[in-house]
Amino acid sequence: MSDQISQLREEIFALKQSRNAMIFAHNYQRDEVQAIADFTGDSLELARSARSVECEIIVLCGVFFMAESASIISPDKTVLLPEPDAGCPMAEMIEVNETRRVWKTFPGYDKQPSFIFPHEFSLRDIKKNNPGVPVVAYVNTSAAVKAESDICCTSANVVEIIESLSSDSVICVPDRNLAMWAQKNTRKRIIAWDGFCHVHDRVTVEDVMRARMDYPDALLMAHPECRMEVLELADQVTSTSGMLRYVQSSGAGEFIVGTELGLFYSLRKENPDKIFHPLRKDMICPNMKKTTLGSIVNALKNMELVVTVPEEIRASAKIALDRMIGAD
Ligand code: 13P
Ligand code: SF4
Repeated sequence: MSDQISQLREEIFALKQSRNAMIFAHNYQRDEVQAIADFTGDSLELARSARSVECEIIVLCGVFFMAESASIISPDKTVLLPEPDAGCPMAEMIEVNETRRVWKTFPGYDKQPSFIFPHEFSLRDIKKNNPGVPVVAYVNTSAAVKAESDICCTSANVVEIIESLSSDSVICVPDRNLAMWAQKNTRKRIIAWDGFCHVHDRVTVEDVMRARMDYPDALLMAHPECRMEVLELADQVTSTSGMLRYVQSSGAGEFIVGTELGLFYSLRKENPDKIFHPLRKDMICPNMKKTTLGSIVNALKNMELVVTVPEEIRASAKIALDRMIGAD
Protein backbone atom coordinates (compact mmCIF):
# COMPACT_ATOMS: atom_id res chain seq x y z
CA MET A 1 0.00 0.00 0.00
CA SER A 2 1.48 3.39 -0.99
CA ASP A 3 2.18 6.08 1.65
CA GLN A 4 -0.43 8.30 0.02
CA ILE A 5 -3.14 5.65 0.27
CA SER A 6 -2.35 4.83 3.90
CA GLN A 7 -2.42 8.54 4.77
CA LEU A 8 -5.83 8.98 3.10
CA ARG A 9 -7.14 5.90 4.89
CA GLU A 10 -6.01 7.28 8.24
CA GLU A 11 -7.67 10.61 7.50
CA ILE A 12 -10.90 8.83 6.59
CA PHE A 13 -10.89 6.71 9.77
CA ALA A 14 -10.32 9.80 11.94
CA LEU A 15 -13.02 11.84 10.16
CA LYS A 16 -15.47 8.97 10.34
CA GLN A 17 -15.08 8.78 14.09
CA SER A 18 -15.32 12.50 14.72
CA ARG A 19 -18.38 12.84 12.44
CA ASN A 20 -20.07 9.60 13.53
CA ALA A 21 -20.19 8.55 9.89
CA MET A 22 -20.45 5.25 8.06
CA ILE A 23 -19.21 4.55 4.56
CA PHE A 24 -21.41 2.59 2.15
CA ALA A 25 -19.88 1.40 -1.11
CA HIS A 26 -21.59 -0.23 -4.06
CA ASN A 27 -20.00 -3.42 -5.42
CA TYR A 28 -18.79 -1.47 -8.47
CA GLN A 29 -16.64 1.01 -6.55
CA ARG A 30 -12.85 1.17 -6.86
CA ASP A 31 -10.97 -1.50 -4.86
CA GLU A 32 -9.47 1.01 -2.43
CA VAL A 33 -12.92 2.52 -1.74
CA GLN A 34 -14.52 -0.88 -1.11
CA ALA A 35 -11.57 -1.71 1.16
CA ILE A 36 -12.34 1.13 3.61
CA ALA A 37 -16.14 0.82 3.49
CA ASP A 38 -18.14 -0.19 6.56
CA PHE A 39 -20.57 -1.82 4.22
CA THR A 40 -20.46 -3.00 0.60
CA GLY A 41 -23.39 -4.43 -1.31
CA ASP A 42 -25.78 -4.35 -4.22
CA SER A 43 -28.49 -1.71 -4.61
CA LEU A 44 -30.98 -3.64 -2.48
CA GLU A 45 -28.53 -4.22 0.36
CA LEU A 46 -27.46 -0.57 0.37
CA ALA A 47 -31.11 0.53 0.59
CA ARG A 48 -31.83 -1.95 3.38
CA SER A 49 -28.77 -0.94 5.37
CA ALA A 50 -29.53 2.77 5.10
CA ARG A 51 -32.65 1.94 7.07
CA SER A 52 -30.96 -0.04 9.83
CA VAL A 53 -27.56 1.58 10.55
CA GLU A 54 -26.96 3.75 13.61
CA CYS A 55 -24.94 6.83 12.65
CA GLU A 56 -25.40 10.52 11.86
CA ILE A 57 -23.82 10.55 8.42
CA ILE A 58 -23.85 8.10 5.53
CA VAL A 59 -21.16 8.61 2.90
CA LEU A 60 -22.67 6.94 -0.15
CA CYS A 61 -19.92 5.81 -2.53
CA GLY A 62 -22.02 5.05 -5.57
CA VAL A 63 -24.18 7.10 -7.92
CA PHE A 64 -26.71 9.84 -7.31
CA PHE A 65 -29.88 7.73 -7.16
CA MET A 66 -28.32 5.60 -4.42
CA ALA A 67 -27.66 8.65 -2.27
CA GLU A 68 -31.20 9.84 -2.93
CA SER A 69 -32.59 6.45 -1.88
CA ALA A 70 -30.59 6.54 1.36
CA SER A 71 -31.88 10.04 2.07
CA ILE A 72 -35.49 9.04 1.29
CA ILE A 73 -35.27 6.08 3.64
CA SER A 74 -33.31 7.84 6.41
CA PRO A 75 -34.21 11.55 6.37
CA ASP A 76 -32.82 11.93 9.90
CA LYS A 77 -29.31 11.12 8.62
CA THR A 78 -27.09 13.35 6.51
CA VAL A 79 -26.30 11.61 3.25
CA LEU A 80 -23.12 12.67 1.45
CA LEU A 81 -22.29 11.86 -2.17
CA PRO A 82 -18.51 12.41 -2.49
CA GLU A 83 -18.64 13.01 -6.25
CA PRO A 84 -21.55 15.29 -7.15
CA ASP A 85 -21.30 14.36 -10.85
CA ALA A 86 -21.57 10.61 -10.27
CA GLY A 87 -24.89 9.94 -11.99
CA CYS A 88 -26.38 6.85 -13.61
CA PRO A 89 -26.99 7.40 -17.34
CA MET A 90 -29.78 4.81 -17.30
CA ALA A 91 -31.57 6.58 -14.44
CA GLU A 92 -31.28 9.77 -16.48
CA MET A 93 -33.13 8.14 -19.39
CA ILE A 94 -36.44 8.72 -17.62
CA GLU A 95 -38.03 11.84 -16.23
CA VAL A 96 -41.65 12.17 -15.19
CA ASN A 97 -42.75 14.25 -18.17
CA GLU A 98 -40.10 13.34 -20.72
CA THR A 99 -41.28 11.21 -23.64
CA ARG A 100 -39.60 8.05 -24.89
CA ARG A 101 -40.41 4.85 -26.76
CA VAL A 102 -42.29 2.16 -24.89
CA TRP A 103 -42.27 -1.58 -25.46
CA LYS A 104 -45.00 -4.06 -24.88
CA THR A 105 -43.87 -7.59 -24.13
CA PHE A 106 -45.95 -10.72 -23.81
CA PRO A 107 -46.32 -13.48 -21.26
CA GLY A 108 -44.34 -16.44 -22.43
CA TYR A 109 -41.65 -14.01 -23.63
CA ASP A 110 -41.48 -12.40 -27.03
CA LYS A 111 -37.97 -12.10 -28.47
CA GLN A 112 -38.98 -9.10 -30.55
CA PRO A 113 -40.90 -6.74 -28.31
CA SER A 114 -43.11 -4.39 -30.23
CA PHE A 115 -43.39 -0.68 -29.65
CA ILE A 116 -46.85 0.04 -28.32
CA PHE A 117 -47.56 2.82 -30.78
CA PRO A 118 -45.41 4.54 -33.35
CA HIS A 119 -44.97 7.63 -31.19
CA GLU A 120 -43.40 8.34 -27.81
CA PHE A 121 -44.95 8.58 -24.35
CA SER A 122 -44.17 10.14 -21.00
CA LEU A 123 -44.50 8.14 -17.80
CA ARG A 124 -47.62 10.17 -16.93
CA ASP A 125 -49.14 9.34 -20.38
CA ILE A 126 -48.52 5.64 -19.89
CA LYS A 127 -50.16 5.74 -16.47
CA LYS A 128 -53.13 7.63 -17.86
CA ASN A 129 -53.52 5.18 -20.76
CA ASN A 130 -53.28 2.16 -18.47
CA PRO A 131 -55.44 2.97 -15.46
CA GLY A 132 -54.94 0.65 -12.51
CA VAL A 133 -51.73 -0.83 -13.94
CA PRO A 134 -49.00 -0.43 -11.30
CA VAL A 135 -45.64 1.15 -12.08
CA VAL A 136 -42.61 -0.85 -10.93
CA ALA A 137 -39.56 1.43 -10.82
CA TYR A 138 -36.07 -0.05 -10.82
CA VAL A 139 -34.11 1.65 -8.03
CA ASN A 140 -31.95 3.15 -10.78
CA THR A 141 -34.38 6.07 -11.09
CA SER A 142 -34.65 9.57 -9.66
CA ALA A 143 -36.67 10.28 -6.52
CA ALA A 144 -39.24 12.04 -8.72
CA VAL A 145 -39.79 8.92 -10.83
CA LYS A 146 -40.00 6.76 -7.71
CA ALA A 147 -42.62 9.16 -6.38
CA GLU A 148 -44.72 8.47 -9.52
CA SER A 149 -44.37 4.72 -9.03
CA ASP A 150 -46.22 2.15 -6.96
CA ILE A 151 -43.28 0.02 -5.89
CA CYS A 152 -39.52 -0.18 -6.47
CA CYS A 153 -37.44 -3.19 -7.42
CA THR A 154 -33.79 -4.07 -7.88
CA SER A 155 -32.17 -6.59 -10.15
CA ALA A 156 -32.21 -8.99 -7.18
CA ASN A 157 -35.97 -8.98 -6.63
CA VAL A 158 -37.69 -7.79 -9.83
CA VAL A 159 -39.57 -11.05 -10.48
CA GLU A 160 -40.74 -11.42 -6.85
CA ILE A 161 -41.92 -7.81 -6.81
CA ILE A 162 -43.91 -8.20 -10.04
CA GLU A 163 -45.39 -11.48 -8.84
CA SER A 164 -46.40 -9.86 -5.53
CA LEU A 165 -48.75 -7.46 -7.36
CA SER A 166 -52.37 -8.44 -7.91
CA SER A 167 -52.77 -6.94 -11.40
CA ASP A 168 -52.26 -8.90 -14.65
CA SER A 169 -50.13 -6.14 -16.19
CA VAL A 170 -47.30 -3.96 -14.90
CA ILE A 171 -45.39 -0.97 -16.22
CA CYS A 172 -41.61 -1.45 -15.77
CA VAL A 173 -39.22 1.49 -15.91
CA PRO A 174 -36.56 2.31 -17.02
CA ASP A 175 -34.50 -0.76 -18.04
CA ARG A 176 -35.85 -2.64 -21.08
CA ASN A 177 -33.44 -5.53 -20.50
CA LEU A 178 -34.47 -6.02 -16.89
CA ALA A 179 -38.10 -5.82 -18.02
CA MET A 180 -37.51 -8.47 -20.67
CA TRP A 181 -35.80 -10.68 -18.11
CA ALA A 182 -38.79 -10.27 -15.81
CA GLN A 183 -41.12 -11.04 -18.73
CA LYS A 184 -39.34 -14.34 -19.28
CA ASN A 185 -40.09 -15.24 -15.67
CA THR A 186 -43.68 -14.08 -15.21
CA ARG A 187 -47.07 -14.63 -16.86
CA LYS A 188 -48.02 -10.99 -16.34
CA ARG A 189 -47.96 -8.61 -19.29
CA ILE A 190 -45.18 -6.04 -19.09
CA ILE A 191 -45.12 -2.57 -20.57
CA ALA A 192 -41.48 -1.51 -20.64
CA TRP A 193 -39.63 1.79 -20.92
CA ASP A 194 -36.89 1.87 -23.54
CA GLY A 195 -33.93 2.60 -21.25
CA PHE A 196 -30.70 0.63 -20.81
CA CYS A 197 -27.35 0.54 -19.03
CA HIS A 198 -24.58 1.24 -21.50
CA VAL A 199 -22.11 -0.93 -19.55
CA HIS A 200 -24.23 -4.09 -19.73
CA ASP A 201 -26.17 -3.47 -22.97
CA ARG A 202 -22.93 -3.53 -24.99
CA VAL A 203 -22.33 -7.24 -24.30
CA THR A 204 -23.03 -9.37 -27.38
CA VAL A 205 -23.59 -13.04 -28.16
CA GLU A 206 -20.15 -12.99 -29.81
CA ASP A 207 -18.61 -11.91 -26.48
CA VAL A 208 -20.25 -14.90 -24.81
CA MET A 209 -19.06 -17.29 -27.54
CA ARG A 210 -15.51 -15.96 -27.32
CA ALA A 211 -15.43 -16.23 -23.52
CA ARG A 212 -16.84 -19.77 -23.64
CA MET A 213 -14.13 -20.76 -26.17
CA ASP A 214 -11.36 -19.14 -24.10
CA TYR A 215 -12.55 -20.59 -20.77
CA PRO A 216 -14.44 -23.80 -21.55
CA ASP A 217 -14.52 -24.95 -17.90
CA ALA A 218 -15.89 -21.69 -16.46
CA LEU A 219 -19.49 -20.98 -15.47
CA LEU A 220 -20.92 -17.78 -16.93
CA MET A 221 -22.81 -15.27 -14.76
CA ALA A 222 -24.67 -12.32 -16.30
CA HIS A 223 -26.40 -9.30 -14.78
CA PRO A 224 -30.04 -8.87 -15.89
CA GLU A 225 -29.15 -5.45 -17.33
CA CYS A 226 -27.53 -7.44 -20.21
CA ARG A 227 -29.57 -8.15 -23.35
CA MET A 228 -31.89 -11.15 -23.40
CA GLU A 229 -29.88 -13.03 -26.04
CA VAL A 230 -26.89 -12.83 -23.68
CA LEU A 231 -28.91 -13.82 -20.60
CA GLU A 232 -30.23 -16.88 -22.41
CA LEU A 233 -26.66 -18.18 -22.77
CA ALA A 234 -25.68 -17.62 -19.12
CA ASP A 235 -25.46 -20.29 -16.43
CA GLN A 236 -26.72 -17.81 -13.84
CA VAL A 237 -28.55 -14.49 -14.16
CA THR A 238 -28.44 -12.43 -10.98
CA SER A 239 -27.57 -9.15 -9.26
CA THR A 240 -24.04 -8.31 -8.16
CA SER A 241 -24.45 -9.69 -4.65
CA GLY A 242 -26.35 -12.64 -6.14
CA MET A 243 -23.15 -13.41 -8.10
CA LEU A 244 -21.12 -13.35 -4.88
CA ARG A 245 -23.51 -15.84 -3.29
CA TYR A 246 -23.60 -18.03 -6.41
CA VAL A 247 -19.80 -18.31 -6.53
CA GLN A 248 -19.57 -19.12 -2.81
CA SER A 249 -22.19 -21.84 -3.00
CA SER A 250 -20.91 -23.34 -6.27
CA GLY A 251 -18.47 -26.25 -6.36
CA ALA A 252 -16.98 -24.79 -9.56
CA GLY A 253 -13.59 -23.10 -9.49
CA GLU A 254 -13.73 -20.82 -12.56
CA PHE A 255 -16.23 -18.14 -13.59
CA ILE A 256 -16.85 -15.67 -16.42
CA VAL A 257 -18.29 -12.50 -14.91
CA GLY A 258 -20.86 -10.54 -16.92
CA THR A 259 -21.03 -7.35 -14.95
CA GLU A 260 -19.03 -4.24 -14.02
CA LEU A 261 -15.43 -5.07 -13.15
CA GLY A 262 -15.63 -3.57 -9.65
CA LEU A 263 -17.23 -6.83 -8.51
CA PHE A 264 -13.88 -8.59 -8.97
CA TYR A 265 -12.69 -7.01 -5.71
CA SER A 266 -15.16 -8.94 -3.54
CA LEU A 267 -15.16 -12.01 -5.78
CA ARG A 268 -11.38 -12.42 -5.35
CA LYS A 269 -11.34 -11.39 -1.69
CA GLU A 270 -14.05 -13.86 -0.72
CA ASN A 271 -12.84 -16.65 -3.02
CA PRO A 272 -9.04 -16.56 -3.16
CA ASP A 273 -8.85 -20.08 -4.62
CA LYS A 274 -11.26 -19.45 -7.51
CA ILE A 275 -10.51 -17.90 -10.90
CA PHE A 276 -12.51 -15.07 -12.50
CA HIS A 277 -12.53 -13.73 -16.05
CA PRO A 278 -14.37 -10.66 -17.35
CA LEU A 279 -17.00 -11.30 -20.01
CA ARG A 280 -15.70 -8.10 -21.60
CA LYS A 281 -12.68 -6.14 -20.43
CA ASP A 282 -14.44 -2.80 -20.94
CA MET A 283 -17.34 -3.38 -18.54
CA ILE A 284 -16.43 -0.31 -16.53
CA CYS A 285 -18.94 2.27 -15.34
CA PRO A 286 -17.11 5.63 -15.41
CA ASN A 287 -19.56 7.14 -12.94
CA MET A 288 -18.98 4.40 -10.40
CA LYS A 289 -15.24 4.98 -10.68
CA LYS A 290 -15.40 8.73 -9.99
CA THR A 291 -15.25 8.30 -6.21
CA THR A 292 -11.72 8.13 -4.79
CA LEU A 293 -10.28 8.08 -1.27
CA GLY A 294 -9.49 11.77 -1.79
CA SER A 295 -13.09 12.59 -2.61
CA ILE A 296 -14.26 10.77 0.53
CA VAL A 297 -11.87 12.85 2.66
CA ASN A 298 -13.20 16.05 1.05
CA ALA A 299 -16.80 14.96 1.52
CA LEU A 300 -16.29 14.34 5.24
CA LYS A 301 -14.16 17.44 5.80
CA ASN A 302 -16.45 19.86 3.98
CA MET A 303 -19.73 18.00 4.50
CA GLU A 304 -20.61 17.91 0.82
CA LEU A 305 -22.46 17.05 -1.36
CA VAL A 306 -25.44 16.73 0.99
CA VAL A 307 -28.19 14.93 -0.94
CA THR A 308 -31.74 15.73 0.12
CA VAL A 309 -35.11 15.19 -1.49
CA PRO A 310 -37.98 17.72 -1.22
CA GLU A 311 -40.45 16.42 1.38
CA GLU A 312 -43.40 16.13 -1.01
CA ILE A 313 -41.42 13.88 -3.38
CA ARG A 314 -39.67 12.07 -0.54
CA ALA A 315 -42.90 10.99 1.11
CA SER A 316 -44.29 9.38 -2.09
CA ALA A 317 -40.95 7.88 -3.11
CA LYS A 318 -40.58 6.39 0.37
CA ILE A 319 -43.86 4.53 -0.02
CA ALA A 320 -42.54 2.84 -3.20
CA LEU A 321 -39.19 2.02 -1.57
CA ASP A 322 -40.76 0.80 1.70
CA ARG A 323 -43.10 -1.50 -0.22
CA MET A 324 -40.06 -3.07 -1.86
CA ILE A 325 -38.02 -3.42 1.30
CA GLY A 326 -41.05 -4.67 3.20
CA ALA A 327 -41.97 -7.07 0.39
CA ASP A 328 -38.44 -8.39 0.17
P1 13P B 1 -27.10 -4.29 -8.43
O1 13P B 1 -25.94 -4.03 -7.56
O2 13P B 1 -28.36 -4.09 -7.69
O3 13P B 1 -27.02 -5.61 -9.10
O4 13P B 1 -27.13 -3.14 -9.54
C1 13P B 1 -26.28 -2.98 -10.55
C2 13P B 1 -26.19 -1.58 -10.99
O5 13P B 1 -25.98 -1.35 -12.14
C3 13P B 1 -26.28 -0.52 -10.04
O6 13P B 1 -26.06 0.65 -10.69
FE1 SF4 C 1 -26.04 3.07 -14.16
FE2 SF4 C 1 -25.08 0.97 -15.51
FE3 SF4 C 1 -23.41 2.54 -14.18
FE4 SF4 C 1 -25.11 0.94 -12.86
S1 SF4 C 1 -23.44 0.30 -14.17
S2 SF4 C 1 -24.66 3.07 -12.42
S3 SF4 C 1 -26.89 0.99 -14.23
S4 SF4 C 1 -24.69 3.12 -15.92
